[in-house]
Amino acid sequence: MHLHINPDNAGRTMKNIRPISDEKRPKVYIETYGCQMNVNDSEVILSILQDAGYALTESISDASVILANTCSIRDNAEQRIWGRIEQFRLQKEKRGNVIVGIVGCMAERLKDKLLDSHVVDLVAGPDTYRTLPELIRAITPDSPQINVRLSHEETYADITPVRMDKNGVSAYISIMRGCNNVCSYCIVPYTRGVERSRDPQSIVREAEELFANGYREVNLLGQNVDSYLWKDPVTADRDVNFAQLLEMVAKISPDLRVRFSTSHPKDISDEVIYTMAMYGNICRHIHLPVQSGSNAMLEKMRRKYTREWYLERVRKIRSVMPDCGLTTDIIAGFCGETQQDHLDTLSLMEEAAFDSAFMFQYSERPGTLAARKYPDDVPEAVKTARLNEIIALQNRLSRESNEKEIGKTFRVLAEGISKKNSGELFGRTSSNKVCVFPAGGHKTGDYVEVEVLSCTSATLISKLV
Ligand code: SAH
Ligand code: SF4
Ligand code: F3S
Repeated sequence: MHLHINPDNAGRTMKNIRPISDEKRPKVYIETYGCQMNVNDSEVILSILQDAGYALTESISDASVILANTCSIRDNAEQRIWGRIEQFRLQKEKRGNVIVGIVGCMAERLKDKLLDSHVVDLVAGPDTYRTLPELIRAITPDSPQINVRLSHEETYADITPVRMDKNGVSAYISIMRGCNNVCSYCIVPYTRGVERSRDPQSIVREAEELFANGYREVNLLGQNVDSYLWKDPVTADRDVNFAQLLEMVAKISPDLRVRFSTSHPKDISDEVIYTMAMYGNICRHIHLPVQSGSNAMLEKMRRKYTREWYLERVRKIRSVMPDCGLTTDIIAGFCGETQQDHLDTLSLMEEAAFDSAFMFQYSERPGTLAARKYPDDVPEAVKTARLNEIIALQNRLSRESNEKEIGKTFRVLAEGISKKNSGELFGRTSSNKVCVFPAGGHKTGDYVEVEVLSCTSATLISKLV
């Protein structure tokens, strides 16, 4: 874990808490579910709690505070958490004085309903993490604490996340929070609130500090990074858009790779594409969730683009950067989806030739526009069958995409030791493909030239060159 400096809190921390060794501090255990933004939020939470005197533990049975940072995106994500809450109940029964907190998107969505379990002592939404120390202090057996206020301003810009990644090579940086799109199926705008962009100077500073601490890759995160816009409080000609932010971060060092996600097909601009092309250290990879290949479905989903628009964006990306990796998200079985709509998704996948994809069955989320307006009428068995066809097709496309790389050489950033073979390292190409290769004296954090020998649908098997 690298040195953690928080300029705003440093003075206060020094005054109130004498330096104490980690063993004497109360322990917090944090489990993280959901997207990369939640992973980064857990690092923000840890930063706040460390300043308040806590130390992280990786063993739940040592913890005086157990936190689950939760996800509401699909029903099965929430069902997993309900299962965990039952496990936490056992911890409480065994040990008595342990605090159980549910934070993140499910906290925001379900609010005091989470208290009905009589296990949960703390419910805190994504914009309330600064209040965690005082909420925890106020908990008594009879008074659980809850704060689910959403904010229009909070970006945690001044908080240096305490990295939990362990590899010390690649880190997430949240550049914005919330979402202003109202895709009809999606719960995120309700759990994360309105979109707000973070001060670019604080982003650059965080990336510079990471680089100085040995990190070699930053991943800029937002639900829709293309709508990143920092409004300068003084003069409008100093506003910063996403392409400009990318450039600012890319300029830190050619040895710091820059990734980002997620791009929205309706918003990804030529300026962003050309900025990527200009800097070798901006990774050649775009995650561009299409959701469906059918215009009727896209319209109902309120995605605000058509199949034709999407495919034009793909052609533009490929014409500027032929080597650019392209990945996507797909939803099978959205409301009213016909067999023809499904076939349109399959044909779009073929045309776009995605390198990989996250693929889901539609899951109705209470309170969303789709839940209010459209019956969830595709039978479960049909949803599953369509999803399986989508997955089978993507496996083939991924394998074909990887087969094209055989014989080529890539500059890979070594991210860690291969799980299968301790004499091998793994890392990623700029286009986000996973490579394994013999360590040969290299270590995590090195850039390594490799040549691809063979592949599976998920991995490029390579040798050093
Ligand atoms: N902001 C990103 C996506 C965030 S959620 C974007 O707009 O692309 C990640 C993915 O979960 C979505 O792209 C979508 O494919 C999936 N998803 C969201 N809501 C869903 C739902 N109700 N049922 C199934 N999948 C869903
Ligand atoms: Fe959800 Fe759409 Fe926002 Fe993505 S852009 S988080 S899918 S509402
Ligand atoms: Fe889940 Fe919330 Fe992320 S709903 S996908 S953790 S923004």
